[in-house]
Amino acid sequence: MRNIRARNFLLAGAVGLLVLHLCKDFIDHKTIRIDVREENSHIRQPTTENSYVYSWPSCQQNMSAANISGFSSLPGGIKDFLYYRHCRHFPMLLDLPDKCGGVDKSADIFLLLVIKSSPVNYERREVLRKTWAKERLHNGVWIRRIFISGTMDSGFEKKRLNKLLELEQREYNDILQWDFSDTFYNLTLKQVLFLEWMERNCPKVRFLLNGDDDVFANTDNMVDYLQSLKDNDGSKHLFTGHLIQNVGPIRSSGSKYFIPVQVQESNSYPPYCGGGGFLLSGHTALVIYNMSQSITILPIDDVYMGMCLAKAGLSPVSHMGVKTAGLHIPSSKLDAHDPCYYKEVLLVHRFLPSHMYLMWHRIHDPNLKCGASKKLL
Ligand SMILES: *[C@@H]1O[C@H](CO)[C@@H](O)[C@H](O)[C@H]1NC(C)=O
Ligand SMILES: *[C@@H]1O[C@H](CO)[C@@H](O)[C@H](O)[C@H]1NC(C)=O
Ligand SMILES: *[C@@H]1O[C@H](CO)[C@@H](O)[C@H](O)[C@H]1NC(C)=O
Ligand SMILES: *[C@@H]1O[C@H](CO)[C@@H](O)[C@H](O)[C@H]1NC(C)=O
Repeated sequence: MRNIRARNFLLAGAVGLLVLHLCKDFIDHKTIRIDVREENSHIRQPTTENSYVYSWPSCQQNMSAANISGFSSLPGGIKDFLYYRHCRHFPMLLDLPDKCGGVDKSADIFLLLVIKSSPVNYERREVLRKTWAKERLHNGVWIRRIFISGTMDSGFEKKRLNKLLELEQREYNDILQWDFSDTFYNLTLKQVLFLEWMERNCPKVRFLLNGDDDVFANTDNMVDYLQSLKDNDGSKHLFTGHLIQNVGPIRSSGSKYFIPVQVQESNSYPPYCGGGGFLLSGHTALVIYNMSQSITILPIDDVYMGMCLAKAGLSPVSHMGVKTAGLHIPSSKLDAHDPCYYKEVLLVHRFLPSHMYLMWHRIHDPNLKCGASKKLL
């Protein structure tokens, strides 16, 4: 016991030092309790029982943000964003250092599914694990799954949900969680934290699907499509999805996507792919990560990806199989959940867990007969 305790203490100290070294932008220290009972994977799991205390740096609010003109009339979420915009490093609560089998082995993963999921979305994660995000060999190549998450609220609710993710992690080994609040305006932060993690742990992954936990993704078709790219094994540029061009920040404060001039002055966004889901190569993911280090965070995550691509001189392209704006069913008399519409697409936005479960099974039904007219591609 003493040995374990001493070793854990050393390990925790080493991690602490590393984090201190990595996070030069931290000023103050916040206290985190570390469990010393478990031998492995304990270091990043804060708990209140049988624990000792050591220091963890935390990112401080930028008080000068309040001096920006018109600050006081901005909505609360935007104010909060401006106060914490510079914070890019947060402690990991759940990690998967061996997910890709190490740096070199990560080349064996053909498609890594990276799914943004907030802690409360338990049902969505459960159904994804049984359907399109199932880890498997398809057409001779590996598909792997990772959910990326922050934390919810504070106090008991936060603790309870952290415990839930911890349980899920024990069973499925598919969650990355950082200790930042998982809000809409923090989605870009989540994205950048993932890319940083990927560079460290899975830099040679061939392709990634980056998406939300409420989309229907036909991952079999994705593998087929990616395998058909004869001149790209993941080491060249690829970024494709539902292309959005010639738009700019929405300036009306009632919108979910409201971006005031205090956040971005320019009236235009670069071309980008809708964030419900897009496909990219491992190479492009690393380029985006590199670019992100010198681009101020914009709270709209998919636009931010477009900014990183633009800075690298790369373009996103459209894939007509990605329908993040929904399917266009030609007539209201037709069943919008006819599996024949979904057999050929790559991705469709917004599915309820029960619909997801049913659809995944229906499109794999060997007796399913679809006339050519049902194809929307
Ligand atoms: C905000 O502006 C006021 C007046 O210009 C100045 O006195 C104060 O130091 C500024 N506060 C911060 C935190 O920069
Ligand atoms: C804090 O906010 C001010 C005003 O927006 C900005 O000029 C400054 O760069 C920010 N500081 C940091 C550390 O981001
Ligand atoms: C992002 O997360 C940090 C850390 O939890 C939090 O302080 C900040 O308020 C969050 N930002 C927004 C805009 O929610
Ligand atoms: C990212 O930046 C690092 C350090 O500057 C460089 O070594 C690496 O080649 C870059 N990666 C890509 C994919 O551009």
